[in-house]
Amino acid sequence: MDNVEIFDTTLRDGEQVPGCKLDYKTKLIIAEQLDFLGVDVLEAGFPISSPGDYKSVKEISKLVKNTRVCGLTRAVKKDIDVAAEAIKHAKLSRIHTGIGTSESHMRFKFNLTPDEVLGRAVIAVKHAKSYVEDVEFYAEDAGRTDNEFLARVCEAVINAGATVLNIPDTTGYCLPDEYGAKMKYLMENVKGIHKARLSCHCHNDLGLATANSIAGVQNGARQIECTINGIGERAGNTSLEEVVMILRQHPKLNLDTRIKSEMLSGISKLVSESMAMPVQPNKAIVGANAFAHSSGIHQDGVIKKRETYEIIDPKDVGVTESSIVLTARSGRAALAFRAKNIGYDLNKLELDKVYKQFLIVADQKKGINDEDLPKIIEASNL
Ligand code: KIV
Ligand code: ZN
Repeated sequence: MDNVEIFDTTLRDGEQVPGCKLDYKTKLIIAEQLDFLGVDVLEAGFPISSPGDYKSVKEISKLVKNTRVCGLTRAVKKDIDVAAEAIKHAKLSRIHTGIGTSESHMRFKFNLTPDEVLGRAVIAVKHAKSYVEDVEFYAEDAGRTDNEFLARVCEAVINAGATVLNIPDTTGYCLPDEYGAKMKYLMENVKGIHKARLSCHCHNDLGLATANSIAGVQNGARQIECTINGIGERAGNTSLEEVVMILRQHPKLNLDTRIKSEMLSGISKLVSESMAMPVQPNKAIVGANAFAHSSGIHQDGVIKKRETYEIIDPKDVGVTESSIVLTARSGRAALAFRAKNIGYDLNKLELDKVYKQFLIVADQKKGINDEDLPKIIEASNL
């Protein structure tokens, strides 16, 4: 298995979500859990952006034991100086610097020519390199950047000392085959590419962040930048739990991460509660319904053999067990199963009677819980 590094940016790109600002003590709690979770790199913040962010990057750097701590900068000397100061206590550190490389960013954001942008990129990487060995360069809006120019920039920053090349689909525009082809192009056309690691950083504006990240690693990238619950700017970033479990569920890809997947459910709740950002119930892996079965056909299958309708063992992501939810769409198998769980072992005749009564009640309620069941059984005249 080849290792894909997990670069967690919950506390940087994730925290950019309006209304999700965290105080630095909560950030420390989340950072510690991310360290236990096994992320390879933790982007702790954007140190020059505010004194608060500087402080949290600094404190996280002191706290974290195994994970590499990274600070974001623009391709600006002062940003890099401040980030270097903030991460200087980390056991393992990285500076993440970069500049926009798409036509639109170069013309409208910077009013610079491509050669000027390339020059700034090289200066920034060299300056970061004067502080730390590990320097990641991001080509912002790489998703919409011409591949030939992107390859020139990548080659120049590798020569300047960049160890990781981040290829962000900043606007979430790319299709998976397009993003995969971009990685393949860079693998094949950048001289010295084997001295650096290509990184996927995908946004979810079209719901493709996870698919694009997987396409990226299928084509040579070996780092994925992601957030817990997929939180992040606009429609969010690639969701950590999704990419980790996709690689684990598909051994034929021959790619894996170091993530302790049994912690995923717990850390998802921690981030969601800390940020007051609810997780949609049907969210893959960590949504409340990810392992809940409510239709009769599915319930019957799951009760006979879990694998008939589940591709992941819930315990692998920290969920105790699958749930059989009783609704008006449920069948006798589910009713008998749930009744037995609370001590009623119903024979066929009894079950038929209880099921009739159950449907009457279930048609009036959204769900039937363990308190409702004894009342339904009593009202069934067994
Ligand atoms: O989406 C993006 O391009 C970013 C960069 C700053 C890495 O978040
Ligand atoms: Zn981003």
